[in-house]
Amino acid sequence: MRRPFVAGNWKMHGTRAQNAQLIEGVLHGVADGSPTEIAVCPPFVYLWEVARLLKASGISVGAQSVSAEAVGAFTGEISASMLKDIGCSYVIVGHSERRALYKEDDALVARKFLAAQTQRLTPILCIGETLEERERGDTLQVVARQLTAVLDLVGVKALATAVIAYEPVWAIGTGKNATPEQAQQVHAQIRAEVAAHDAKIAGGVRLLYGGSVKAANARDIFSMPDVDGGLIGGASLKADEFLKICAAAQVH
Ligand code: PGA
Repeated sequence: MRRPFVAGNWKMHGTRAQNAQLIEGVLHGVADGSPTEIAVCPPFVYLWEVARLLKASGISVGAQSVSAEAVGAFTGEISASMLKDIGCSYVIVGHSERRALYKEDDALVARKFLAAQTQRLTPILCIGETLEERERGDTLQVVARQLTAVLDLVGVKALATAVIAYEPVWAIGTGKNATPEQAQQVHAQIRAEVAAHDAKIAGGVRLLYGGSVKAANARDIFSMPDVDGGLIGGASLKADEFLKICAAAQVH
């Protein structure tokens, strides 16, 4: 059985006061022993404080990116060991905004994935096609290429302690979510790719959908057999909306 998982990606939003209010709202509404595992991913500078606020709550903290390097003269970078040190459990790697805006390629994403796991952080590996790639009929090929880059570096067994998020780029922040059927089709393909290497790992790895998930569409998307939860951007910044999405993930 795969435990449903919902992670909030706050992106570059928030202040200390807003974060405290958001966390308070989430903690107020979340049930003890929630069947859905929950994580939030604030900007780097707030990780420490958010981790303290969530201490003993059962809600995990993740970072939005990590350096591929372990330590040294890399101005502006944050290492996996630092994230571990301040209480992170997860880290997003390969988000499409990092790939597109900061030119992170498949090889760098794979190295970041490895750097995270070396410090026992669980990577949330984001993969997904652009609108142009979908319209060309290349969706499955693109997703397979992004996944293979990681598998080639770390091996399939590494997916036993990782999460994969399928995030079609055209659905992120656009209000235009993939239909449940579109998500299921790609998720099934991702699971099949992993199964071609190791069926047991494929059966256990959690596959999140991300891209304009909100309370109103979460249940339909999460009801798909290969969708194990979501990576939530905009809707994770409102406590009530985020809580409804977490509750919708319990359909499994
Ligand atoms: P969105 O973002 O929910 O705002 O579309 C999702 C993401 O980028 O992870």
